[in-house]
Amino acid sequence: MSKSVVFVLSFLLLSPAFAQRLPDTVVPAHYELTFTPDLKAAKFAGQETIRVHVARPASTVTLDALEMEFHEVTITQAGKTQKAGVTLDPKGETATFSVGNALEPGPAEIHIRYTGILNGQLRGFYLSKGKGRNYATTQMEPTDARRAFPSFDEPALKATFAITLVVDEGDTAISNGRIVSDTPGPAAGKHTLRFSTTPRMSTYLVAMAVGDWKCSEGAAEGIPIRICSTPENARLTKYALVAAEQQVAYFNQYFGIRYPFEKLDVLAVPDFEAGAMENAGAIFYRESVLLADENTASAATKRAIASVLAHEIAHMWFGDLVTMKWWDDIWLNEGFASWATSKPLKVWKPEWKRDIQDVYSSGNALSLDSLANTRPIRRQAETREEINELFDGIAYSKTAAVLRMVESYLGEETFRRGVQAYLKKHSYANATAEDFWNTLAQESGKPVDAVMRSFVDQAGVPLLRVRATCEKQGGMVEAEQQRFFYDRQAFEKGSDSLWQVPLCLRGPGDAAPKCELMTRRKQSFMQEKCQPWVLANPAGSGYYRVAYDSESLRSLSHVMQTELSPGERLSLLNDQWALVRLGQQEIGDYLSFAEGLRDERTRVVMFTLTGRLDYIGDYLLNDATRPKYQAWVQRLLRPTAQKLGWQPRAGESDELRSLRAYVLMTLGRTGRDAEVRAEARKLAEQYLADPKSVDATLAETVLSLAALDGDAALYQKYLAKMESDVEPEEHERYQDALTYFTGPALVRRSLEYAVSGRMRNQDSPGFIRDLLELRETQSVAWDFVKANWPRVEAALTIGNARDVVRAVSTFCEVPARHDAETFFAAHPVPAAERTLRQALENANNCINLRATQQQSLAAWLAGRAEGAGR
Ligand code: BES
Ligand code: ZN
Repeated sequence: MSKSVVFVLSFLLLSPAFAQRLPDTVVPAHYELTFTPDLKAAKFAGQETIRVHVARPASTVTLDALEMEFHEVTITQAGKTQKAGVTLDPKGETATFSVGNALEPGPAEIHIRYTGILNGQLRGFYLSKGKGRNYATTQMEPTDARRAFPSFDEPALKATFAITLVVDEGDTAISNGRIVSDTPGPAAGKHTLRFSTTPRMSTYLVAMAVGDWKCSEGAAEGIPIRICSTPENARLTKYALVAAEQQVAYFNQYFGIRYPFEKLDVLAVPDFEAGAMENAGAIFYRESVLLADENTASAATKRAIASVLAHEIAHMWFGDLVTMKWWDDIWLNEGFASWATSKPLKVWKPEWKRDIQDVYSSGNALSLDSLANTRPIRRQAETREEINELFDGIAYSKTAAVLRMVESYLGEETFRRGVQAYLKKHSYANATAEDFWNTLAQESGKPVDAVMRSFVDQAGVPLLRVRATCEKQGGMVEAEQQRFFYDRQAFEKGSDSLWQVPLCLRGPGDAAPKCELMTRRKQSFMQEKCQPWVLANPAGSGYYRVAYDSESLRSLSHVMQTELSPGERLSLLNDQWALVRLGQQEIGDYLSFAEGLRDERTRVVMFTLTGRLDYIGDYLLNDATRPKYQAWVQRLLRPTAQKLGWQPRAGESDELRSLRAYVLMTLGRTGRDAEVRAEARKLAEQYLADPKSVDATLAETVLSLAALDGDAALYQKYLAKMESDVEPEEHERYQDALTYFTGPALVRRSLEYAVSGRMRNQDSPGFIRDLLELRETQSVAWDFVKANWPRVEAALTIGNARDVVRAVSTFCEVPARHDAETFFAAHPVPAAERTLRQALENANNCINLRATQQQSLAAWLAGRAEGAGR
């Protein structure tokens, strides 16, 4: 083959799918849709009438359509029907209908008879495999409604939908509306379910699910609520029902707008790519995050069920009622739903301390946003791949963090008024970033539009260097802002970015923080009196990092456990770690700081701390420092482990149960504590024999630790349990635990399993990612992935493929990192372009950290060795 042919071919393969927006000559008003799925043959027949409005004379109409066959298309206008020719453009994912006599401005009707496939890709109208039978379910977001029906598949082209499903006698169906009629036929053995017409909504929110679903029923303020699943899981729907009832009632009040749909169904689908999806009035879910028995579920499962539900229910207003005009503003959906999640949970389960979880999510956003390869919250996207990749930590967690900052700056009530006004104004319609912040500025009379613009349209995060001094007139705090990067060169090079930062300060004598807007690069803030310490991110509610002068930092670390809230400790701990990664803070100082948290009892703070200890243990040690580090970790965590024991006390909180699990995991794996490892092995066997004999919240730790040095016999036991008739939660628990077996043959066996077709493709990417990320399994897993790429690739779906790429973040050695870069350049993964750049940057950062901190870590550990005194 000549060079130029190769070039053209690879260009075709590498260039992102062609993308175009539909012309605005014809816009939809209403869809009448009838689907007749054939679950055995994995296909369906569709009949569609779209009432449209023709804006300008047109002899063609272009719609989005993919993987379907057209049998007849006619267009009716002013009582005249003409047959239309169909031209397909599979690349552009469109179908164009042409008529002999041009359509005139005004109403028209398009009639379409077509057939489609129930695909195995978890998108559009797809096949979902349950126990011994098939189901047909949908996932349309972002751009797959076009696989289910020819459509104007863009979020701004809202319309009403009247859906009819023809299903088998023993089956039922769930859709956006409620069932308004159920009649036998048309064929023998079938019945026809007609659903009520929806309010105006976007195509990506259309939902259908066909099968023998069983539901438990409840209500909130007159709105019917059902939690549904396949029959064998019907008894696991109660916990979610109670949560959903509280949340719908809560949001009704909070938003001041009644729940906008006729009913709410929440359905656990046997094959589901995401965690959950906010289809209007019909939220669809992955089974393991919806179904659980409250009495046996782990604390983590209960928290996940309730928080995913709160996120999706919030979407009924943020996303479904008011929708972004285009995907570039997807943060208006995902960021707001993420921000809103904690609202009902704080009221329902105050003991979960959701506000600290929020600081934790901010920390994740700050971390992603400290990369040179981050992106601004609002970002143009046109192709299927670009749009999919926008669903990231920036859209979700950064937005939520920025909203939290603005909320605490304006006050909760003012912010809420702004939110209500925005939702009212754009109900059943679309909105842009400007629509939100202009409304908020108007309602509050404060320049939050400028604040928000600086955080939404600028990538990255400001670092505030804070210096507190005592002056004659009182205290003075000087702050200087600069864009933060983990990458030292990027950081030192500087940037033009300038943020409008609502900066709040709190000292020991202050009842409430004092907040001012920082609009310049450098600014001084006077305080009435000079205080022993000043905290520059009270409650961790600001979306910025803080670097204190060393004296201020020392004072703060002294009062950390007594005068700072857990959220404040967490944000301080995160900022200190970020400074270590930048190279502006010694790792030893960080570890000394961590020692101050030895008696920490806040779950999320401990989770963060143990996570960092694991990271250091995985990447920053060498043969000389490893034993010393392990000994230090043991000394740090053992007292807590001993106090808590392996058995929860009667009535012990879920928070403490979770904390125990984290401490024991890190003690056993990173600290290599022999006693902990032995006990875990014993308890794993006990759990296999009788799951009730081990606290559910500890089960994951026990199974994972036992797996670390587990043999083929233990592996086989996990596998057998996983494949037996266990609840979704337990299935997932065993599946996750399988990734902790470290013997090379077992690692390969796991990977074989993941690509064999025996594992659901909703799970394979995450499973492979876990094996690539764990230091003990990484190199074997990577060799397998490379050697079996076609099979690995076949197990990836567009929404989850990134998981595998993201694992490259943990390739903390030059050859491995380089190898990954070369490999993924030759084997690009769809919708993971930015993810790859970010992962490589994280890996580089890890490599640099290791090079720069190993010595100082060795020196610090020597000083901390047993007997060296403290
Ligand atoms: N709208 C998303 C689901 C989605 C994501 C669809 C990406 C298409 C592409 C849904 O609201 C969501 O965000 N789900 C999250 C759970 C949430 C609690 C963060 C998910 O699936 O992980
Ligand atoms: Zn969402």
